[in-house]
Amino acid sequence: MLKPIKLANKNFLSSLDTSSDELFHILEIAKNFKNKDLNIKFKDKVLGLIFDKSSTRTRVSFQVAMSRLGGTTVDLNPNTSQIGRGEPIRDTARVLSRYCDLLAVRTFKQSDLEEYAKWSSKPVINALTDIEHPCQALADYMTIKEEFVDFKNVVLTFIGDGNNVANSLILCGALLGVEVRIACPKGYEPNSMVIKKAYEIYKNKDLLKITNDPSAAVLGANVLYTDVWSSMGEENKKAEKDKFFNGYNIDNNLVTKAAKDVIILHCLPAYRSKEITDEVFESKKSRIFEQAENRLHAQQALLSCLLH
Ligand code: CP
Ligand code: NVA
Repeated sequence: MLKPIKLANKNFLSSLDTSSDELFHILEIAKNFKNKDLNIKFKDKVLGLIFDKSSTRTRVSFQVAMSRLGGTTVDLNPNTSQIGRGEPIRDTARVLSRYCDLLAVRTFKQSDLEEYAKWSSKPVINALTDIEHPCQALADYMTIKEEFVDFKNVVLTFIGDGNNVANSLILCGALLGVEVRIACPKGYEPNSMVIKKAYEIYKNKDLLKITNDPSAAVLGANVLYTDVWSSMGEENKKAEKDKFFNGYNIDNNLVTKAAKDVIILHCLPAYRSKEITDEVFESKKSRIFEQAENRLHAQQALLSCLLH
């Protein structure tokens, strides 16, 4: 039975903050937590949650994960704390890390998250930025592993916006050696630095493909994944993107072009009839709610390693 290990990096700001071995280890521990084979308590540990953007899954799964580990959380609402008033991150981070044992931060700029990490004396976790959503990727690959046992010959195709979720799927996929294909409209490709870093990690460069053609990307895919076309912070681009992304959605027609054993993933929240049809969302191939559940187990595993 694998037990939590101390990770080489203090923080989890990016999928690349874990090595490939550490990542496999976290996924295995997550499985053990889910199966109730592991029962580890970190008495009195406190996780501070700093969320500059809305959240249901990430917030609650962190709260429940800490509770299961024998600890607790403090949820800071920027509007009712001094964060919303504009207190510098370097001051907030120095204060909160004297009270809390870990901080999970959901914010816009990756550089703001890095500023928290720079000034916090305790580990900082990326709970979503404009560039990455690494905790989501942990649950996603956990769900894929549950279905296909290992990642050998698994093809993951992401259709839609080359956003934070796509970026983390690419980076995590590179570390795990999973074939990842991204199909997005021209101009909405994933972050160029993320693509560059992923190619540096992949032993076989053919395992990452970025294309503008969803039909080609879906051929033989075992996992079809999508996310909203406009992320939090892009509310003013919504009308324009809705028109532009027409055709970059998962519908039954696309599903029939994938492998027979294909599963459907979505990080949620979803806009049915935009990036995914209701029919596909609710179909037998959907593992969307298993994936949402796995946020809890994957984060419990991550927390147990960071608190180690
Ligand atoms: N998938 C996800 O991060 O959901 P929330 O925004 O509800 O946390
Ligand atoms: N890409 C989405 C993910 C939400 C969990 C966003 O950033 O809003």
